[in-house]
This record gives sequence, structure tokens and C-alpha cells, in this order.
Amino acid sequence: MAKLEILEYPDDRLRTKAAPVVAVDDEVRTLVDDMLETMYAAPGVGLAAPQIGVMKRIFVMDVADKEAPPEPVAMIDPQVVWASEETSTYEEGCLSIPEIYEEITRPARVRVKFLDRDGAEREAEFDGLGATCAQHEIDHLDGKLFIDYLGSVKRSLITQKMKKLKRERAKETD
Ligand code: NI
Repeated sequence: MAKLEILEYPDDRLRTKAAPVVAVDDEVRTLVDDMLETMYAAPGVGLAAPQIGVMKRIFVMDVADKEAPPEPVAMIDPQVVWASEETSTYEEGCLSIPEIYEEITRPARVRVKFLDRDGAEREAEFDGLGATCAQHEIDHLDGKLFIDYLGSVKRSLITQKMKKLKRERAKETD
């Protein structure tokens, strides 16, 4: 397995719609394993393929309690097939937008159709943090970020802050 570099906002690849996978082969399985390793090392609870520059519709997540055994989930070509009218609000963050946390309101429960690691078609329902995380990750596959749910003033402040952060980091590595 290999730890991969996580892209940071702003980056055009984070704004690009990812392509369907269709065939789940060994290459996809290796990618899933690398993504899980990268997510756990970060540490984070979710990671989508565009965040590591791979424009494929794949994400991984694990929303199990820290003290509980890991519950890795990998979804390939995921599609929300149902969302509740009821909403819930969570403070969200993103490995591609470090140090920014904002409260975002989304449907409280969703049902997702996807292919698993073996290429089998499956459906699963999520609530709580799982529902928020799955929707956040599926958004990544469409080039959408959680800051898009904020007002434009707040979003542009975050964009400025992130550009500055990236400039400073680039200087450090010079
Ligand atoms: Ni994210």
C-alpha cells in the first residue's frame, strides 16, 4: 500500500467532475486500499479520489468511533437514490481545505447505490455522521466542496486564506 498526496484547495482538479469506473479491477482495488491508508494517516473520516488527483468516481470513509474497531467503507460509482426531507447540521471539514470547519445542513438520511470493492452492486442507508460524510464525498466526485454551501462572502474569505496558506507552504519548501 502507498500513502498518497492530498490536493489542497484551490486546485482545478477539485473542481472537475470525475468519470464513472464501471469495471472494478485490481487497479481499482489497489487505489481503494491506498486511499484508505491515506485517509487513516491524515487522519480523516472520508477521502474521495479527486482529492488525490485521480478523476474517478470512488470514495472511502470510516465514521466509526475512535475507540471502536475500524469500519472501512469503499464506494465506487455511488449514487444517492433517496434523501430524507429531514435535515441535520454538522460541523464539516475537509482534508483538502485544512483548518476550516463550518456548520453545513444536509439531508439527515440518504440511501446510496454503489459498487463495492468486488464490483458487486449494493445499496446502503446512512444516518448521522455517515449520511453527512457520504454526501460530502459524493459532492467531491462532482467537483463540489462543502464551502459551496456557504455564502459567497464567507467562501471568498476562505479561498483567500487558503491561497495564502498554499503560498506560505510553497515558500517553506523552496
Ligand atoms: Ni472533503
